[in-house]
Amino acid sequence: MSTFKAPKGTYDLLPPASRQHLAVREAIAAPLRTAGYGYIETPGFESVELFARGVGESTDIVTKEMYAFETKGGDRLALRPEGTASVLRAALEGGLHKAGNLPVKLWYSGSYYRYERPQKGRYRHFAQVGAEALGIEDPAVDAELIILADQAYRSLGLRTYRILLNSLGDQRCRPAYRATLQDFLRGLDLDEETRRRIDINPLRVLDDKRESVRRQLTGAPLIVDHLCDDCRAYHDQVRELLTAEGVAFEDDPRLVRGLDYYTRTTFEFVHDGLGSQSAVGGGGRYDGLSEMLGGPALPSVGWALGVDRTVLALEAEGVELPLPPTTSVYAIPLGEKARTTLFSLVTTLRKAGVAADFSYGGRGLKGAMKAANRSGAAYTVVAGERDLAEGVVQLKDMESGEQVPVPVAEAAEELERRLRG
Ligand code: HAM
Repeated sequence: MSTFKAPKGTYDLLPPASRQHLAVREAIAAPLRTAGYGYIETPGFESVELFARGVGESTDIVTKEMYAFETKGGDRLALRPEGTASVLRAALEGGLHKAGNLPVKLWYSGSYYRYERPQKGRYRHFAQVGAEALGIEDPAVDAELIILADQAYRSLGLRTYRILLNSLGDQRCRPAYRATLQDFLRGLDLDEETRRRIDINPLRVLDDKRESVRRQLTGAPLIVDHLCDDCRAYHDQVRELLTAEGVAFEDDPRLVRGLDYYTRTTFEFVHDGLGSQSAVGGGGRYDGLSEMLGGPALPSVGWALGVDRTVLALEAEGVELPLPPTTSVYAIPLGEKARTTLFSLVTTLRKAGVAADFSYGGRGLKGAMKAANRSGAAYTVVAGERDLAEGVVQLKDMESGEQVPVPVAEAAEELERRLRG
């Protein structure tokens, strides 16, 4: 071990466990691809201002959790704490909203950074796969995204997650609700910091986890009872579409998300096997964000699913993903001449798409067989001077233990045939 360790709140993804993470990323991306979402990649850092304006000046993410720094050139940048603001920035900059059909559908997969207090399921570096549909206000788009996330989780074999659904209203009905909520909250017995929050972001107070606060919030006015007719109708349509597709959800009038850009539909995927960090994914509609970034009106909706927490959820449910063995054929040369012959065989197999590996370093038969066993290979190919003199290699079926000589020239084809069958 070296004297260096992964920074606090981070961890390394090492094989074989890293395969789970890759499989999760792929499983989340698969339904998005079939629904017309195009892949987008944006820089790992952006201007601080983008997140301050986009995610919100009063959010924990911006005030406490951002890795912000000044470059040698004097630019104020931050490691991205989330993907939505960046994706919208890139789409506007690239003019995607002008180029073709709306909505512009995009998906992404990458690393995000938040300076949070680390605990199980909460890291300072984590991975998300996300999707955004830009430029259309239609409940079917909201429903589509929730259905696609549900489909991804089902395909992974997850069962005990729940979908929490809420509407946060829009600029017509939320201000009045906000004022009503503020009046209610000002009458409660709360500490100084929470009182300040009533002025800046009263909805966040509804999300307070402390028992002393929760008790007082029992009779709090809820946004569902204050939605305008348009927001109510929109929300009902999202709910109807989900119900028609057999996607179960729970109405959660207290669901508040940690980012300021949301309007109307908001949702969270929670898993009960994860302890306090139970949100495996979340998202919602953000109809005003484009304008907040100086763009045109571009009503949009999206989500991001946390890869790290999804892997923990799979572990909590005891789901074993069916991962193929990394190696199908393991080649063991005994002697210099065999090295050349088998190295060439391995290269041929790999070109044909067969996962093959090789015993390097001139290892003896015993050690090499151990490595072959560890690799999970279905077959080993062993060749010594005498085999080659006879023009054959020894092909061993690792499961039955049966070993047969096969002509060198036919070895690749024979292995392919056996592995296919
Ligand atoms: P978010 O709820 O902040 O939303 O993050 C989405 C998911 O990322 C969470 O549910 C969680 O699984 C994972 N996550 C967040 N922070 C951490 C952490 N510190 N450690 C491990 N996992 C974490 C967003 O980021 C929005 N951009 C989602 C969105 C897209 N809304 C609209 N479009």
